[in-house]
Order: sequence, then C-alpha cells, then structure tokens
Amino acid sequence: MRFTSKLPDVGTTIFTVMSRRALEENALNIGQGFPDYAIDPRLAASLSEAVAQGRNQYAPMEGTIELREQISTKLFVCYERRFDPTAEITVTCGATEALYDAVQAVVGPGDEAIIFDPAYDAYEPAVRLAGARCVRVALSPPALRFDWDEVRRALSPRTRLILINSPQNPCCSVATREDLDALAACVRDRPVTIIADEVYEHVLFDDRRHASVLAHPELRERSYAVFSFGKTLHATGWRVGYCVAPAEMTRELRKVHQFNTFSIAAPLQYAIAGYLSKYPDAWHGLAAFFEAKRDLLAGLLKGSGLEPLPAAGTYFQLIDYGALSKESDVKFAERLIREAKIATIPLSPFYANPPPMTLLRLCIAKQDSTLRAAAERLLTFASAAARLAG
Ligand SMILES: Cc1ncc(COP(=O)(O)O)c(C=O)c1O
Repeated sequence: MRFTSKLPDVGTTIFTVMSRRALEENALNIGQGFPDYAIDPRLAASLSEAVAQGRNQYAPMEGTIELREQISTKLFVCYERRFDPTAEITVTCGATEALYDAVQAVVGPGDEAIIFDPAYDAYEPAVRLAGARCVRVALSPPALRFDWDEVRRALSPRTRLILINSPQNPCCSVATREDLDALAACVRDRPVTIIADEVYEHVLFDDRRHASVLAHPELRERSYAVFSFGKTLHATGWRVGYCVAPAEMTRELRKVHQFNTFSIAAPLQYAIAGYLSKYPDAWHGLAAFFEAKRDLLAGLLKGSGLEPLPAAGTYFQLIDYGALSKESDVKFAERLIREAKIATIPLSPFYANPPPMTLLRLCIAKQDSTLRAAAERLLTFASAAARLAG
C-alpha cells in the first residue's frame, strides 16, 4: 500500500532537532523552552501526597473540580471576572492539546484561519489536519509588531479563526489593550472565533501588564483562551494546561477533548489544585524572576556582535548575529553547536515565509549559572568570529 501523508512537508520540529544535536555535540542547550532548575519542592510534595492518597484513576473528562475551582479563583485574581468552573474551564494535556482541540472545534474544510508569521509551530498543522487553510500575516523584523491593516486585508468570507499569541513566542513582543481593541474591531460582525495563546501570561517585563482576551468584554465572548501550568509552575513535563471559553464554545471543545486525550493525569491535577489552595500566590513573582534572567543574559551579550533585541515578555531572548555573519540562521545555529558547543533555535522555522534575517532564539528559563556559562561560550565565539571578519 502507498501511504499518503496528510502533512507531507512537516518534519521533526526544530526544537527536537536542535535538542538532539545538542546531545550529539555535547553542547549546552539554551534553545528549547524548558527550565533546567527544580520545581517548587512543595509542588513535588503535593504530587507525592496525591499518589499516596490514591488519586490514581481516571480524572473527570473536563478536569477535576478541585483544579477547575482553583483555576477560576486564579482567573478572578488576574482578570477580575468569575469564570464558571463547571461550564467554562477545561483541563487539557498542556496548552498544546487545548490549542489542537479548539482549532478542531472551530474550522473545517474550506475555512481559513489567520495566523501570524512567525508563530509557534503547533498552530498550522492543527489547522491543516482540520482540513482548513492558514493565511499568514507577517510580523516582520525589526518591529515584529501586529499590523492590523494587514489583518483586515487578510480577512475573507471564509475566515473562521484568528489565532493570536501574547506574549509572543518567538518574537518576545506583547499585545497591548489597543491591539486587542483593533482585533475586536477587525472581527466585529464577522463569524470569526479567536484562539488566544496566553501561556506566558505572567512573563511580561518592565511593568507591562498582560492584555488578556478574558479581560476584554467583547473578545472574551468569542475566544478560547489557552494557558499552561507547564510555564506557570516551571513544570513543562507535567503537561497540564487549560482552556477558558464561553459555555457553548466549551461544550464544542470538550467534544474534541473527550475523544482526544479524554482526561488528564489525575495525580497531577490533584497536586496542582492542592498546591494552589495552600499557596495561591505561588506564581506572583514570575515576571521579576524572568526579568532578572533577561537582564543578566542581555547584559552579558550586549556589544558582543550577538546583539540582544528588546524583549517585552516570554521566557526567550532573540539575538541578532548580523554583525558577525550573513549566513542563514539554520547554518549559523549549526555552527554555534559545533564550534561554540551552544544549542540555540534559529528563527526561520517559525515562519511560513521567512524574510531575510539573522536572528536566533535563546531560552532564559535557565539557572543563572547556565546563562553565564552560555554567555561565556557565545562571547568567546563572537570575539573569534569578529577577529576573522575584521
Ligand atoms: C507560545 C506557546 N504556546 C504553547 C506552548 C505549549 O505549551 P504546553 O507545553 O503547555 O503544551 C508553548 C510551549 O513552548 C508556547 O511557547
């Protein structure tokens, strides 16, 4: 039998490729977005407790009520609105599953979804597997900002979905309240649903405040808002996320969720619920925590030829190597792995139509000692490259 691929152009993700290359070359991996430090020991203890208490069987499809209530409380603290834990909140296998389920619930054959370019790589395959088509709207360097005129031009009678991500991976930019107003104006009177990927909701720098669709009265009526405890609790391997949406939209999302993952690991849900009930402000220091890491890494690299770009949020930092080389980002990243023993993530794989650019993405969710060691290797490489170029 000849097997026909539904995603013939999709290969292994750039994160997996670079992490594998890092292992092969014994390189320091500051590419893929995961912390290299321990989770809060109180969260680990809460998991042991949940297992010991026998929380080891199927959790309810929509998530344990204990966790959904904690999420509802947290949302009220953040966005000053009460979301109904029974009808508007669903626990998913990371944000990735929530995104996939929401896309399947919204689009089908013949539909169009507007996605920004560059974007997190999980969006486009989900749209295509639903039989729909992505229309990309560029966020071009150096500004990397939303261009709402372009969004208006990209809208068509077939548009059913706009997928927005703020704070944005990989651009490290954040949407403002004005951006959300512009988005609302674009979709007013159109049958367009919003999926808002807000996994970095707590990682905004320099006193910026997160503009969530959940705090926007017009947008929250047509939005799936997607969050991740992986990011908020430094536990990416736990794979616990959630989706918040109006009841009718949540019902549709759950139809997909129940036949996709059915329900999420029970002990993990009880562990997070127990932890948040005892330490409700556990996530409060996240912005300051990551801002210090951004400042540390950016301060070390500034002036080296691997120039840090301004980063408004997320746990990433872009660097521009244009002063040292005009090689493609994929080639330059490969050279860094081989010659500097540092794994980074090139930016072009996040684009459907990459413009000419010389940008790499680094992850700042690392111990300070890791960031210092990474900077030292990068600086040694940069000064050698500058000597050669000079
Ligand atoms: C923008 C964005 N959305 C979604 C995800 C996936 O989150 P999760 O690990 O909870 O599935 C990530 C992970 O890096 C991300 O950066």
